[in-house]
Amino acid sequence: MHNDIERVLLTEEQIQEKVRELGVILTEEYKDKNPIVVGVLKGVVVFYADMIRQIKAPLQMDFMWISSYTGTESGGKMLVRQKLSNNIEGRHVLILEDIFDTGRSLQFLVDTLKAQNPASLKICTFLDKPERRVPGVTVKADYTGYVIPNEFVVGYGLDFDEKYRNLPYIGVLKPEMYSK
Ligand code: IMP
Ligand code: MG
Repeated sequence: MHNDIERVLLTEEQIQEKVRELGVILTEEYKDKNPIVVGVLKGVVVFYADMIRQIKAPLQMDFMWISSYTGTESGGKMLVRQKLSNNIEGRHVLILEDIFDTGRSLQFLVDTLKAQNPASLKICTFLDKPERRVPGVTVKADYTGYVIPNEFVVGYGLDFDEKYRNLPYIGVLKPEMYSK
């Protein structure tokens, strides 16, 4: 285990088992729909690569990169850094997310994509921290990997200060790492 990690929350095995489980469900749902699978950069990249290989049906890949204007909790205004490269009008769209936290990102994304008239729009998030949801967020995940406690996690694509994305498991950082 990495020195900065206090404990492992989800092992590689638990992660892969859940991805396979979701794969069975998503394959059934999307087998005749040729969906556009939208990844939310950058955190989703690792989950995305695993997840699409468990969807045993034709699909198209696309990505959006969004971030909040400021780092503050209150602002909440989102900035699109990279748009989709596909026209999604009339298409089935599946959003993949690494983690559903305050919900601001997913709410913004759903509002933005709905305005482009997809045939359907669903959300699959690998992790969910429901305790963190803020008022005004009405969007719900259609498929969830693991519901986790209100703790900051890293690994499997998730970062702290752009570090730890390449850890193969999901872990909780040692508290002293935040104060560095
Ligand atoms: P939101 O608060 O639901 O809009 O989530 C915004 C983004 O914050 C997520 O897509 C993640 O990139 C990041 N995030 C939220 N919680 C965590 C965490 O526990 N670890 C690492 N990144 C997180
Ligand atoms: Mg993210």
